[in-house]
Amino acid sequence: MDWGMKNRLSRMIKADGRTVMLAVDHGYFLGPLNRMEEPKKTIAPLIPYADSLMITRGTLRTSIDANQDIPIVLRVSGGNSVLNEDLSNEGITVCIKDAVRLNVAAVALSIYLGSPHEHQTLINLGKLIDEGQEYGIPVLAVTAVGKELEKRDARYLSLASRIAAELGAQMVKTYYCDDFAKVVKSCPVPIVIAGGPRFKTELDALQLAYDAIQEGAVGVDMGRNIWQSSNPVGMIKAVRAIVHDKATVKKATEIFHGHKSA
Ligand code: 5RP
Repeated sequence: MDWGMKNRLSRMIKADGRTVMLAVDHGYFLGPLNRMEEPKKTIAPLIPYADSLMITRGTLRTSIDANQDIPIVLRVSGGNSVLNEDLSNEGITVCIKDAVRLNVAAVALSIYLGSPHEHQTLINLGKLIDEGQEYGIPVLAVTAVGKELEKRDARYLSLASRIAAELGAQMVKTYYCDDFAKVVKSCPVPIVIAGGPRFKTELDALQLAYDAIQEGAVGVDMGRNIWQSSNPVGMIKAVRAIVHDKATVKKATEIFHGHKSA
């Protein structure tokens, strides 16, 4: 692997081999989600506890201070909205030169296995990886399921994660599932997990993060379960303790409750 690619990956995955990515890119097809109406206000207090920020270029340019030292994982796929039943009709929405201009650590794109636009999204991934290789920018492939959340089982996620890695993605973001260790074992590149829609309790989300780490994920790329929490800073601190400090769920819950939201 070339120096630039390695260096960028090391900005995302820390020396302990782990990472806490904060996902705030949802607006690219979901618009202003609850608690992300004003991205600047929601994101700023969380940045000190995140290893990187997964974000669109619009939110990056309008809402993040360029003086801040936070690696950026730029969402570069899109082209649909939640108003459509099928969310898989995505293209590449950002050229690689703009990603370079934004000094990103990585670019991220969704693939939709088994969807009407499977082929197109896999070709998008191949093209993005070619461009990333040219500039030394790693690609994070997101194994997206659109509205079909029930697809998220080990068989489907292993297939999608492995195909992403075979096509050359340097990292994969997928979902936690039963038998998650099998997904990790058959994917030769580091895996992070998304949190998915908000759980009933923070404890559930912390348990998910804990289980994923135990079964081989290098970290999380979590959004709604952090910033839609009533105590977002407490939540990201708790997740961080699980990912980087080997905290148990009990310890992480104490950390969550120990931080009082303003
Ligand atoms: C949106 C994404 C999100 O980054 C991803 O789903 C992680 O966020 P959450 O934990 O809220 O699911 O890829 O398309």
